[in-house]
Amino acid sequence: MKILVVGSGAREHAICWKIIKSNKVSKLYCAPGNGGIAQLAECIDIKVNDLDRIVEFSTVNKIDLVVVGPEEPLVAGLVDKLNENGIKAFGPRKNGALFEGSKSYSKDFMKKYKIPSADYKVYTNSKKAIEELNRFQTPIVVKADGLAAGKGVLICETVKEAEVAIRSIMDEKQFGHAGETVVIEEFLRGREASLLCFVDGKNIIPMESARDYKKAYDNDKGLNTGGMGCFSPNPIYTDQLNKYIKENILDNTLKGFLNENIDFKGVLFIGLMIENNKAKVLEYNTRFGDPETEVVLPRLESDLVDIMLKCIEGNLNENDLKWKDEKCLTVVLASGGYPEKYEKGKEITGLNEVSEDIIVFHGGTKLSGDKLLTNGGRVLAITSMGKTLEEAKKKVYENINKIKFDKMQYRRDIAKI
Ligand code: AMP
Ligand code: GLY
Repeated sequence: MKILVVGSGAREHAICWKIIKSNKVSKLYCAPGNGGIAQLAECIDIKVNDLDRIVEFSTVNKIDLVVVGPEEPLVAGLVDKLNENGIKAFGPRKNGALFEGSKSYSKDFMKKYKIPSADYKVYTNSKKAIEELNRFQTPIVVKADGLAAGKGVLICETVKEAEVAIRSIMDEKQFGHAGETVVIEEFLRGREASLLCFVDGKNIIPMESARDYKKAYDNDKGLNTGGMGCFSPNPIYTDQLNKYIKENILDNTLKGFLNENIDFKGVLFIGLMIENNKAKVLEYNTRFGDPETEVVLPRLESDLVDIMLKCIEGNLNENDLKWKDEKCLTVVLASGGYPEKYEKGKEITGLNEVSEDIIVFHGGTKLSGDKLLTNGGRVLAITSMGKTLEEAKKKVYENINKIKFDKMQYRRDIAKI
């Protein structure tokens, strides 16, 4: 099969790394890819939101399967366009991607199908939103409705702060169109967890659990990022919690999909807040997570291409997912300043000294002649498996010491007990 992966982060590197292990694959392309992906796949210079060129490339090159990594092209309808042109694609169509593309749509869906989640109200008028702020207890969570590259959620300690947030999102258009509608919701307490699931239209089958570290600095200090490190499995998933999640969240979500005629095929990523073995949904994403993918896919024993094809055909079974017993951990090496302003183009050295049992997934890198340069906020995800989490952690941190680039920044407390 000829496969095209769309995206350019460490998530897409992990997807390519796993896909290329399948004996079904004769040729792998990635658009646009990065310096690490270029070692596994032919990188094509097409941006992820250039839907027409992706469709054209897939048609001309007779691509058998397109795997879409990021949310932006999914929300814009890339899978619909590919399907209309007779090309198979892994990822939801526009109506499925709306679960990530519109928070108000998701919240209304959760309410309708009795999926536990924070109390909320939707506003399309800033004056009304501000007038009604006293209905909420502080802290107040203010969310831009649409895609905002992970920055659209503001946790406000006071009513005044919430007012400023609403003005900035709705009137000053801090996130453009994404902020024309806002969701204001109750602040939830507990521990966060990510649950990635394969969905084949009729079944939602969870992958192994993971724990993401979202804050920029050690001890959960600093701003929220896309994720600075991760490990799998996540010990918070007790049998009791799994049962709760299945009965209250997965079954009801599926019921909703079927009732609303949403033929969801791809990955549904459920962001959860856990307290006392119960969970509430913070959000749905409609794609693999980053860095969750970097710790989940190395633990997947089964052929990923088979799983993706079964999702598309609508016949995925729980037994199709076989997992390795080992633990997996990743630490993200970021550019100094990330998630705020940072510089690009710094030379990365030391990767050839890294041990063979370390997997280096590239996020923001690019090749320039024979040099590897930084090209984004999250640059590399240094990953290892281990019989224990402790062993995986030791290997990752020992090897990070060999890697260098100017202003490199990373958390030293991933999986600290
Ligand atoms: P979201 O994009 O909706 O997942 O929100 C991004 C982050 O904001 C989450 O990972 C949480 O850390 C935080 N967050 C979102 N909604 C809430 C909430 N209702 N209560 C507490 N924290 C929240
Ligand atoms: N790690 C969170 C995300 O992928 O959205």
